[in-house]
Amino acid sequence: MENTNEKKNVVLSLVQASGTPTLGNYLGAFKNWHNMAAENDCIFGVADLHAITVRSEPQDLRRRSIEMYAMLLALGLDPEKNIVFLQSHVTDHALLAWVLNCYTAFGEASRMTQFKDKSQRHADNVNVGLFTYPILMAADILLYGADKVPVGDDQKQHLELARDIAERFNGIYGDVFKIPEPYIGKKGARILSLQEPEKKMSKSDPNVKSFISLADEPNVIAKKIKSAVTDSEARVYYGENKAGINNLMNIYSCCTGLDFDAIEKQFEGKGYGDFKSAVAEAVVEELRPVQEEYKRILSDKAYIEKCAKEGAEKASYLAHKTMRKVMKKVGFYQG
Ligand code: TYM
Repeated sequence: MENTNEKKNVVLSLVQASGTPTLGNYLGAFKNWHNMAAENDCIFGVADLHAITVRSEPQDLRRRSIEMYAMLLALGLDPEKNIVFLQSHVTDHALLAWVLNCYTAFGEASRMTQFKDKSQRHADNVNVGLFTYPILMAADILLYGADKVPVGDDQKQHLELARDIAERFNGIYGDVFKIPEPYIGKKGARILSLQEPEKKMSKSDPNVKSFISLADEPNVIAKKIKSAVTDSEARVYYGENKAGINNLMNIYSCCTGLDFDAIEKQFEGKGYGDFKSAVAEAVVEELRPVQEEYKRILSDKAYIEKCAKEGAEKASYLAHKTMRKVMKKVGFYQG
């Protein structure tokens, strides 16, 4: 018989409010969030504090935060059962990040490859926030005692840092933080650019043909996939020197559930044109319900506001419990 008192795992993950998410965000993270939502206690959020490491107009940040929040609701993350919130609504994130800054070595933060990449890309604005970004992320995770953190491959190093900080802190003060495990799907963990398939698909890529945005219309999705860079062999199989085809096979596999052998068989004797058409159709069908739901939710501002407010209340309650413990352990006078 099912044990209804069984303690569920806490699953937590956030996405930056930095533009329309891509198929990479969707297959690497969102799809797993959706799949994990039924079985676990889930906390999902919009990382709007992280987003200001890159300069933007106030009205743009606000709009992107609302849009990303609506997108999370559109994924089917039930705000009644799960906590769906905006990071800046829970001030304890910034407070814990400050505390954790003081338990992070400058050297270990300097090793973060994403900081190195981003500081090259935004050479005119290499701010300290960009440097301490992974420590705020550690605070996001540790505040809620997350057991599992579903992310794409690019966040693995940040997760390792969060674990190291938690272990260090626990080593000094006892069992304060749960040590989180990354959850990185076997498929979809690294969706690559359609134009330069050695690079990650990213919404900040200046070449819009390189990524599929979740706001792209079906004809745009089809066009982008048809112009994806491949190779001259014209045979669909997963192999070396076939980065473009491997990437499309990965995308197709995520959308259809077929493994690589089945995909190879399906396209035996067929060219890349047929394969790309099938990939485009699968992506369009995968995204259709999310896109429809997104449009519907985005037009209901009162619903978004209500969910965000409730999400903030539920998240604040949990975050504050951890924060009080941390403050006490470190020795802040609490009266
Ligand atoms: P962000 O906003 O860049 O991306 C959100 C999620 O999407 C995944 N992802 C990808 N997966 C596969 N292929 C891709 N091309 C691809 N691009 C992005 C990311 O790995 C991520 O899971 N720092 C985080 C946000 C964050 C966070 C957190 C995550 C803030 N606090 C706490 C987990 C826990 C970020 O910038 O993700």
